[in-house]
Amino acid sequence: MANEFVIDTKDLTKQYGVLFWKKKVPALDKLTIQIPRGSVFGFLGPNGAGKTTTIKMLMDLIQPTSGSATVLGAPVWDINMKKRIGFLPDTPAFNGLMKASEFLHVCAKLFHLPRKVRYERVAEVLEIVHMTDHAKEKLAGFSRGMLQRIGVAQALLNKPELLILDEPLLGLDPYGRQDLKNIILDQNKSGTTIFFSSHILADVQEICDRVAILNKGHLLCTGKINDLLHTENLVIRIKDGNDLVAGLMNDAKECLKKDGNTWELTFDCSQPGVTDKLKKFGEEHKEKAELVEQAESLEDFFFRTIETNNKKRMEEEGGSAQ
Ligand SMILES: Nc1ncnc2c1ncn2[C@@H]1O[C@H](COP(=O)(O)OP(=O)(O)OP(=O)(O)O)[C@@H](O)[C@H]1O
Ligand SMILES: [Mg+2]
Repeated sequence: MANEFVIDTKDLTKQYGVLFWKKKVPALDKLTIQIPRGSVFGFLGPNGAGKTTTIKMLMDLIQPTSGSATVLGAPVWDINMKKRIGFLPDTPAFNGLMKASEFLHVCAKLFHLPRKVRYERVAEVLEIVHMTDHAKEKLAGFSRGMLQRIGVAQALLNKPELLILDEPLLGLDPYGRQDLKNIILDQNKSGTTIFFSSHILADVQEICDRVAILNKGHLLCTGKINDLLHTENLVIRIKDGNDLVAGLMNDAKECLKKDGNTWELTFDCSQPGVTDKLKKFGEEHKEKAELVEQAESLEDFFFRTIETNNKKRMEEEGGSAQ
């Protein structure tokens, strides 16, 4: 039976070995998170937040200090489960002497794909990442972005149910990023769940339905992006109603005349009473006025969440030092 959660962790904690005089701070502290099947999930956090540490534990590359995790319903060391996932590490290692297609054949052999399937699949994944023309070139001559594409290609070889990608957008130019976002969405449409870390928040907002934000080893929030982001602005579009526009203009932070006889007025929702007043206005003038909620950007939400947490931590540390 298909598991509802493709990744499920309970109090997952990692404490790297530290010198005895240094304060012991876990790189990851009691992470409890569940990634629903079918989602495109963005795993976010500043440098050093614990993203790679989490991913390495999910891939069984390092051992947790405490807590537990399952992937596709199985323990992280389960070999059969690993055949059903694709993984791109944060710093993939390539043998520069190998040609792109040779490298992919070696990876396909590790998945025990039969010879005929291997040839088909290597050609397919090269096509998916737009690297077919470079198949016979040595990896040593590839740029950072080209290597990243080959890294993504190897993660797709086994048609995975779950793709775990550590910073897949890193080093890609805008075209490469667009390509990769399309690849992620195409894979997701064909049933693959995607779990990836990234610092490029505009891209994350574009393609993810869910995110989690980590800071200094702690999970600050997780959920559907639409539920997490606050409504920042209310926009009212008014058609054929210059008298209505005149009545609202003074409270608006922006007032634009669009095509024909349509006006667009933007209001700041943080102003007290504005939301209620405008919703009432929208109800009363349904024929002429349309109300649209504008959410804050994921980037604004990210900064707000991290800064609030950093402030709280400083206050707590200040309090405990006294
Ligand atoms: N092998 C290691 N030994 C000791 N400490 C480590 C090791 N690897 C990571 N850390 C520490 O663990 C913390 C989390 O690191 P991690 O690489 O998981 O962060 P990250 O969120 O992936 O950051 P980035 O966005 O820079 O990739 C950091 O404080 C880092 O210094
Ligand atoms: Mg990392």
